[in-house]
Amino acid sequence: MPDAGIEVSVNGRSRRASVPPRLTLADFLRERCQLTGTHLGCEHGVCGACTVLLDGQAVRSCLIFAVQADGAEVTTIEGIAAADGELSPVQAAFRAQHGLQCGFCTPGFVISVTAFLRDHPDPTDEQIRDAANGNLCRCTGYQGILKAVRTAADSTGTDTTGTDTTGTDTTQKR
Ligand code: FES
Ligand code: FES
Repeated sequence: MPDAGIEVSVNGRSRRASVPPRLTLADFLRERCQLTGTHLGCEHGVCGACTVLLDGQAVRSCLIFAVQADGAEVTTIEGIAAADGELSPVQAAFRAQHGLQCGFCTPGFVISVTAFLRDHPDPTDEQIRDAANGNLCRCTGYQGILKAVRTAADSTGTDTTGTDTTGTDTTQKR
């Protein structure tokens, strides 16, 4: 099949490319956009390391073709901190609560938790545990991660999403 032209807004910046129909969104982000913070673990939808926001929804970018993101807005881990580099509340909580060790799973967790807390600003501990189920971590034993989610939820109760690199409010990207 011939390549297809796509235009995707990535962290507020428009990216145009001609891509093979079977190129995944994860590979598009990593190889065409040089945004390697989106990690690839299993490449078949299990580990969550590749999670990004697609029009505000947390999705596994290894399971989505880049052509499916044509016309969409994508937020990667590189777009979660504020434009001046200030960590988002979720990122700051992961740092404060030792929610990471090697860091391989962390971008996917931060993206997933960002979307989760946007939709559940006052979560129960059970909801937090359920939310963490979708991402795998081989290092931490999850306790620091669960504490980080609780800390992020309690830290503001409102703005857990941060802003993307253009200063655009990512809460409006749905
Ligand atoms: S790399 Fe996508 S879910 Fe594991
Ligand atoms: S911190 Fe190493 S996989 Fe989670």
